[in-house]
Order: sequence, then C-alpha cells, then structure tokens
Amino acid sequence: MPKLLQLADNYRWNLDGLEFAIAERIGDPENFIGRVEELEYLYQWTVNINKRISRGLAFLGRRKVGKSLILERLYNILYSEHKGLIPFYYEFTEGQRSGREFYIDLVIRFYMQVVGYYTHDITWIRAAVRRGKRIASIEELIEKIVPLSFENKKTVLSCLQGSLGILQQEQPLYEYVLAAVAAPDGFATTPGVEDKIVQLIDEFQYFNMYIDAGVEKKPCKAYMSTAESKVAPLLITGSLMGVVAQEIARYLPQRFQPMNVPKMKATETIAMTLNYGQLYGHTITPEIAEYITYITNGIPGRIVELLSPAVAKPTITSFDEVDVALDYEVREGAIKNDWFEYLVLAMDEVNDINMRRMTYFLCKNEGTLYYPSELKEAMGLDIDELKLRKELDLLYKYDIIEQHGGQYGGVFDRTLKKVLMVNYADLFNLPLAEFNAYFKNDSMLDYLKERAELLNLSLAVI
Ligand SMILES: Nc1ncnc2c1ncn2[C@@H]1O[C@H](COP(=O)(O)OP(=O)(O)OP(=O)(O)O)[C@@H](O)[C@H]1O
Ligand SMILES: [Mg+2]
Repeated sequence: MPKLLQLADNYRWNLDGLEFAIAERIGDPENFIGRVEELEYLYQWTVNINKRISRGLAFLGRRKVGKSLILERLYNILYSEHKGLIPFYYEFTEGQRSGREFYIDLVIRFYMQVVGYYTHDITWIRAAVRRGKRIASIEELIEKIVPLSFENKKTVLSCLQGSLGILQQEQPLYEYVLAAVAAPDGFATTPGVEDKIVQLIDEFQYFNMYIDAGVEKKPCKAYMSTAESKVAPLLITGSLMGVVAQEIARYLPQRFQPMNVPKMKATETIAMTLNYGQLYGHTITPEIAEYITYITNGIPGRIVELLSPAVAKPTITSFDEVDVALDYEVREGAIKNDWFEYLVLAMDEVNDINMRRMTYFLCKNEGTLYYPSELKEAMGLDIDELKLRKELDLLYKYDIIEQHGGQYGGVFDRTLKKVLMVNYADLFNLPLAEFNAYFKNDSMLDYLKERAELLNLSLAVI
C-alpha cells in the first residue's frame, strides 16, 4: 500500500484510495485544503510508531484552528493504509460521568474501532466515534463479535471478558480510570498481537473537568505510565489550550512533547477562502481573500463562520460586505456564540476590574510583551506582584492573553478581540467608541483596503 498522504494541486489533497472510516467534520473531504506541514509531520510521527520511537504528542492550538479535522484526516489515512497501525479516536465530552462509566465507554469505543479495522467494515467505526451511536454494553459487544471471524479475535474477546471481570469487582473510581487509559496499550502488548495503536484523543481538557475519579481530583494523572507506551502512543489535543498545556506540564511531566498548531499559512488560507467563497456563492477576489485571512488571523473555523450564509448577511463581493458580515458575526452570529461559550468560563473568574483593564491594555498594545513588573508600572497598578502574576496566569489559562517566556501580551486573535470589544465594552468600563477606534485603526486593514482600491482603479482603467 503506497503512502496515501499525497498533495494535489493548489493545496488540495489526492483522495484516491482513501476510505472515510470517520466522517470528517468538513463535510465534503475535497474541501480540506492545506495543513501540508502539519499532516506531513504527524504522518511521519505515525511512521515512527512502527519503529517504536514515537513519544506522546500534545497538539496545542487555539480554538477553531482545525485540530479535530487534522486528527480525523490522519485517522482516515491510517485506516486506509492498513499498515498494522490501528487508529483509535476518542473524544472527551462535556457532562459529568463516573470513572466507571468512562471505563465502559472507552473500552467499547476502542474495541469497536479495533473490530472495524480488522474486518474492514467502517460501520463499526462510524458508530464507535459518534455520540449516542455506540454499542450499549460490553456484553452486547461480545455477542456481536462472536459470529465474526477476524485477526486477533480471540485476544479481543479475552480482553473484553477481562473488562467484565473488572466491572464485577466494584473498585474505587480511580482504578477504573487507570484501567480505561491502559486498555489500548494492554491490547497492543498482548503476545501474538503485532499491530500497534495510535491514540488520537480530542478535547483533553474535559478529562479533569468531568470525569469523577473519586479521591483523585486530577484523573488525567492516570496517563502517567501509559503515555510512555511505544506501541500505543498518544496524540492529545484540546480547545482550552492554556488549560491543557498547564495540566500536562503539572500532572504529566515529560510525557508529551508539546507541538503548537499554528494558524494556517497565508497561501493555504487564501486557497481555502476562495474555495469556500465559491461554495457559498460569494464573489471573492484574491485581495478580498487576503483581507479575510487577515481579519480572521487565518483561523479556518472563523473563515467558514464568516462566509456561511445567514439571512442578515450579504453576499460578499467587496471589502465592505466582509465588514458587514463580520459585524453580524461578532454581534449575534456563530463567531460570537462560539467565543461566548468559551469566555463564560473565564469571565466568571475574571470579574476583577484590574483583570479587565489588563486584558484591554494588552489587547491595545498587541505585539508588545510585558513582564508582570513592567505591566504594573506601565499601567500604574496598585497591586501585589504575586496577585498580579496569579491574575495574569488565569487570563493566559483561558487564552484571553498570551504568554511567552514569562512575559505577557495581547491576544493575537482578531475575531476574539472584536467580540470582546463589541460585547464587553461596559464590562471593561471603557467606551465602545474607544474599542472600535482601536480595531478600525489597525494599519494593516487600511493597507489592504488601499491596495484593493488601487487594484480596482487600475482594472477600471483597462
Ligand atoms: N484545512 C482546512 N480546510 C478547510 N476547512 C477547514 C480546515 N481546517 C479546519 N476547517 C474547518 O474549520 C472548522 C473548525 O475546524 P476544527 O473543528 O477541526 O477546529 P478545532 O481546532 O478542532 O476547533 P475546537 O477548538 O472548537 O475544537 C471546521 O468546520 C472545519 O471543517
Ligand atoms: Mg476540536
């Protein structure tokens, strides 16, 4: 089987030979554009699993940057290649559940994907990764497996019988969490099993938030030993980048190599914007695409949200129509709702006037990084330095500000900034006009608009 990660023209991918075991969230797989370096890197990481030299990876990227989609495509490539590397996708979800329920859920979803891999039947996988679609109990799973015939069936069945045994023992909740995270490695290290597992774990931040592990308040610690597995290594990712980064540094030291998921490259983003523009019936020139790339910081999810239709949004043919669509989005559209869902978590904690002022100050001075003492001086804050550090860390944890080597700066994300400005002006205790003036004065925006106008003029002359 040849390598199935093959670039086609214009940052698109060659889909020949790919089977979509997971239905990618993009809808039509043809629309997946770019992410060339990231996919090449991750693909190579999976190749190294066969040499047993890959370490756990933490794929850290801000909201809507395209993390889950990359995991899904990687899954489909590995599934289609069938090279002895079984992909296992698991998404932690919102909502409280006990360690025991987590154990049952993970074991069932894992073995459904193993069976799907060995039987080449993607219906198992589709059901395994969807909420509410998985087989309900381990007993039922065993029943469904018994009549089948596939490689390592005996091992699968005996592991599942083992799980039933564990469930009968009524153990403390954390023991179930430990058993759950050890399951993939346990299968791959069973004598006779030659295949390896690649674990793709999404929304990792919900692990500590929602799994009740009894006495152990930080259940993610359970990965301490299994994260070192060379036959079932982990690739984890999550939306609350600050939270995931902090938790793995604190509770899983040395277990994951952090890898930042960058925003998309400008060339890739422009190709993607032109493609979505066409799909949604807009008339987007390369200049407008460049402008959209700029205001969305090249975050693919924001581009999709900006371009997707709503009754109050115009069909885009000019820069001004982009502005109208953006304005709608940050006031009442998907961009606002998505950021709100996220900001609510932080805003509950960030109720201190100093913290709001700091957010605004750093936002306004985006590009300049400050050590806490410098910030204290620059803002004339009357605050204890230890408290200041704690507050800055909290803002960073929720991705409201950035942190680099002990210095802090404003968010790089323009749609977040705009949502903050439009919706939280009163909270920040600052007049809306001042926020708007800041956003509008962004020199790059003026530059791009000017360029486009010049271009229009020159076209008019021709
Ligand atoms: N390379 C790409 N080409 C085309 N569309 C993309 C690309 N990357 C992401 N998208 C689209 O952007 C949206 C967001 O992507 P995705 O859900 O993977 O991001 P995420 O980083 O996992 O977000 P979250 O932080 O909410 O988990 C999806 O609708 C996806 O289809
Ligand atoms: Mg995601």
